Amino acid sequence: MSDDKTNMNEHYETLVVHGDHKLDEATGGIAPPIHPSSTFAFKNADQGAEFFKDPTAGFIYTRIGNPTTHLLCDKIAALEGYSHALTFSSGMAAIYAIFIGYAGPGESIVISDTIYGGTNGLIRNTMATSGIDFRWVDCTKLDEVEAAIDNTTKLIFIETPANPTLKIIDIEAISNIAKKHNILSVVDNTFQTPYLQKPREFGTDIVMHSATKYLGGHGDLVAGLITFDEKYFDKLFHVLVDTGGILSPFNAWILLRGIKTLHVRMDRHCENAKKVAEFLEGHPAIDRIWYPGLKSHPQYELGQKQMTGDGGMISFDLKGGKNAGRTVMDSVHVCTLAVSLGDVDTLIQHPASMTHSSYSEKDLLETGITPGLVRLSVGLEHVDDIIDDLKSALDKV
Ligand SMILES: Cc1ncc(COP(=O)(O)O)c(C=O)c1O
Repeated sequence: MSDDKTNMNEHYETLVVHGDHKLDEATGGIAPPIHPSSTFAFKNADQGAEFFKDPTAGFIYTRIGNPTTHLLCDKIAALEGYSHALTFSSGMAAIYAIFIGYAGPGESIVISDTIYGGTNGLIRNTMATSGIDFRWVDCTKLDEVEAAIDNTTKLIFIETPANPTLKIIDIEAISNIAKKHNILSVVDNTFQTPYLQKPREFGTDIVMHSATKYLGGHGDLVAGLITFDEKYFDKLFHVLVDTGGILSPFNAWILLRGIKTLHVRMDRHCENAKKVAEFLEGHPAIDRIWYPGLKSHPQYELGQKQMTGDGGMISFDLKGGKNAGRTVMDSVHVCTLAVSLGDVDTLIQHPASMTHSSYSEKDLLETGITPGLVRLSVGLEHVDDIIDDLKSALDKV
C-alpha cells in the first residue's frame, strides 16, 4: 500500500479516496503528478546495472515501470486486498497476459461459457494456435467444472456477473475447486468493481478488470488491471514487459482520478438500476429481465452472499425479439446506443449483433444470449428520465 498514513481502521470509502495519497513533497500537491518520461536517468552505471538486475528497485524505462502507473497499481491492489498489481493498455491485454503467462502448449484452461465477446474472440482467434485447450463450461454447474479439470489444467477463469446475461457464479466454490486441484482461480471483476465484490475474500488468486468501465467511469479511457499476491508477480510482469501492452502514464492518471469517486458512483448506479429494473420487470413488452437485485434473478441468493451491491447492469429479453429490440434501441434519447458499460451515461446495446458477435449462433443460444436480448448499463442521469425514455421507446414496440 502506498500511503504510509493509511489507518486500517478507516472505512473503505476513505481508502477509495486516499489509497494513492502520496503528497508531492516538493509542492504539497494533493493530486498525483503525471510522469510522462519514457526513460529515467541513472545516478551512475552501477545503479543502471542494479536496476536491470531488479527492475522493482528503481525506474528504468516506462514499459518496465513508471511512477504514475505504480500509484495506480498500489491503489487497485489496496482496493481488492492484494499486495501487487499491473496495469495494461486494455482489459483484453490483461486477459491475454493471464492466459499466456499461465498456460502453454499441451495445457488447458477452464473458462466460463458466458463471457465478454472479446474474450471469446481472443480464444477463438488469436489463441487458436497457442496449443492451449480452452474448455468451455457452464461454471454454475460445479460438477461440470470438476469434470473439465485434469492434470493439464492450469487455471479456471470466470466472469461474474457474466456479460451479458448476468449469470452469477459462486466465487468461493470455484476457488475451492481450484485449490483442491492446485490450479489458479481468476475472476474478471469488471462488472462489480471491488466496491461491490471482493473475490479475494472468497479465495480467488488473481482478479482482473477492464478498467475502461466502472473504475474509469467516465467513458474517456481504455485500460486493464490485474491484481494478485507477490508470488504471481514475476510471470505476469514479464509478459507485460515483453509484449509491451502497458498503460500510458496519462491514462493511469485519469484512472486514478476516476477511482476517487468509485463508491459514490457505484451507489448511484445500483440505486438507479434497481428502479429501472423494477420498471422493466412490470412492462408488458418484456419477456424476461435479469438484474441481480431482483428476487426473480435465478441466483438472487448467491448474488446477495458474494456481492455488497447489485450493480448497474440489466439485461432484458423482449417478447418481440430482435425487431422489437431494434425499435427500442433506435427510439431512445436519454440512453445512448453504444457498446461499453460502467459510464456516467446510460448505454444500451444488442449483445448478439454487437459485443458478443464473436459467438456462433449455437453458442449464443446455448448461453442464453437470445436474439431479443438487450443490455443496459444504467448511468447517473436522473432515474425518472431514464425510465421515461425507456417507457416511450417500449411503447413503440
Ligand atoms: C467483462 C469484460 N471483461 C473484459 C473486457 C475487455 O476490456 P477492454 O475493452 O478494456 O479491453 C470487457 C469489455 O467490454 C468486459 O466487459
